[in-house]
Amino acid sequence: MKASDIIEKYINFFEKRGHKRIANSPLVPQNDPTTLFTSSGMQPLVPYLLGEKHPQGTRLVNVQNSFRAQDIDEAGDNRHTSFFRMIGNWSLGDYFKKEQLPWFFEFLTDNKEGLGLDPNKLYVTVFAGNNDVPKDTESIEIWIKIFKNVGIDAKEGDRILPYPAEKNWWSRSGTPEKMPVGEPGGPDSEVFYDFGNELKIHENSQYKDEKCHPNCDCGRFIEIGNSVFMQYKKESATNLEELKQKNVDFGGGLERLLAVVDNKQDFFQTSLFLPIINEIEKGSEKPYKGNECAMRIVTDHLIAATFIAANGVIPSNKEQGYILRRLIRRGYDHYISLSDKDISFVIEVIVEQYKTTDPYLIEKFEEIKFTILEEISKYSSVLHKAKTYIMKKYKHIGDEIKGTTEISPDDVFYLYSSHGLSPTQIESLGYTFDKQKFAEKMQTHQKLSKKGSEHKFRGGLADHKEKTIMGHTATHLLHQVLRDMFGKQLHQSGSNITAERLRFDFNFDRKLTDEEILQIENIVTKKIKANLPVHFEMIPTEEAKKIGAIGLFEDTYSDMSKIYFIGGDSKHLDKAYSIEFCGGPHVEFTEMVKSFKIIKQENLGNKMRRIYAKVG
Ligand code: SER
Repeated sequence: MKASDIIEKYINFFEKRGHKRIANSPLVPQNDPTTLFTSSGMQPLVPYLLGEKHPQGTRLVNVQNSFRAQDIDEAGDNRHTSFFRMIGNWSLGDYFKKEQLPWFFEFLTDNKEGLGLDPNKLYVTVFAGNNDVPKDTESIEIWIKIFKNVGIDAKEGDRILPYPAEKNWWSRSGTPEKMPVGEPGGPDSEVFYDFGNELKIHENSQYKDEKCHPNCDCGRFIEIGNSVFMQYKKESATNLEELKQKNVDFGGGLERLLAVVDNKQDFFQTSLFLPIINEIEKGSEKPYKGNECAMRIVTDHLIAATFIAANGVIPSNKEQGYILRRLIRRGYDHYISLSDKDISFVIEVIVEQYKTTDPYLIEKFEEIKFTILEEISKYSSVLHKAKTYIMKKYKHIGDEIKGTTEISPDDVFYLYSSHGLSPTQIESLGYTFDKQKFAEKMQTHQKLSKKGSEHKFRGGLADHKEKTIMGHTATHLLHQVLRDMFGKQLHQSGSNITAERLRFDFNFDRKLTDEEILQIENIVTKKIKANLPVHFEMIPTEEAKKIGAIGLFEDTYSDMSKIYFIGGDSKHLDKAYSIEFCGGPHVEFTEMVKSFKIIKQENLGNKMRRIYAKVG
């Protein structure tokens, strides 16, 4: 079975049960202040889990491209990938536990409609309860019945295991006490697949002295799906309150499901990744065995880089661009440890593997390849300069102390922070250094940079305060004015809106003149005064593209998109001033924005510009 077959089966299964397929949101979120990348299927659905009405109804299903930057450093083992796809189904105040748990079990085990997994291989976990929320006995009862129906006498404590909030509570910020006010969350029930005791995975792992159980990290058990019963919201620093509606938020990792269907404990041996590994083996003339770590990192990092580059991100030292730079450079470090041939063929086989589910990768292939290869070429020149620096600086030492290759931790840090050269790369140049001292230096540096990073990494709307929403509508007006003045190749590359000001980034390679700034302000003000209506419509994505809606359309299905109109509507396009793909929210009439004034402009480098403005 291929990854695309699992997707098709899953979507069909839930469509048959009344679900509507929703679009795959862009990997780089447009209006979510909390993260740089979409990292789960529920992320774009937060407003609807909190009670806003979803235009496609109360039963939704999709497959979401996701990326978790925190997993970059985990890559290299047999099961961690930073880019992954999450299958998801949601009930927005519709069905709850007694439908969700049997449905997911049926999908996993049914031979025709589902994946045909052996129910004996499945273990489940539930929330054990805490001071505020009781133990999930309802799910336990449901699981007992489900297993009984297939002839398995499942009991609490053996096949059905309660765990505390650290394992069986889900919110975007973790356990209840870590949830910020307003954040939804709830107890969850996870399903695990057992690769089998006979493989002696636990006995051969670093955890061999502990008892093995589904949540053990040895790799014998793998989590394949998580049903979150999203029924609470953080009401104050210490209290949870029940949401008005009881939701189900289900998410399952596609790569994990493929691993269990293919019965491969090593994800990189599944039908999705194996062709990529095989090409790397051929290209490098080295076998996978013995080079697993490097080949897995090259595969994982280049897949993630391909998808991020396809979203228009350019490597830089900031935000998404920084992550892309890190992925390409780290991936390349490992690639050159295997081969000195051109890396393009790896990008080609990646696109080949994903083109069925993400056909836009073919369309953007040249752009993706250019972004990755250009960064590699910059990196190669950095490596060259760094080598020259080291050779010059240490030449006399090398002459005096024959054979020395040790360089100071200060120099390693200098090469890292100024040239972007990783310590691994410095080592593979053949130099040694005091790792402990370097780690201490890095720690101090990380502490300092972490201080400001929470704010620095924000994009989109900071909150839903009145002024922030006014600023959001103003960015749509601004976007349109800029395109009218400078051409359709101009597009938004990021935004950050707070109640105090809005920030808007776009591709533009020079300073705006004072006259231009005045002209922009005047047109936006004119549109505010015209009191144009602002509303959204759900429009088939293809149709939305045809009518010239602007925004990042990553979804590839005959799906619906939420399109905001300022003036006009889909039937009166001649009256529409701005048509933009967007999650909202917005003011209802432009006059509510009151006023608009540009307060600053900045050069972001890479032919990008930033405008700060005030509204109200
Ligand atoms: N939100 C849950 C997760 O990401 C289930 O969708 O695991």
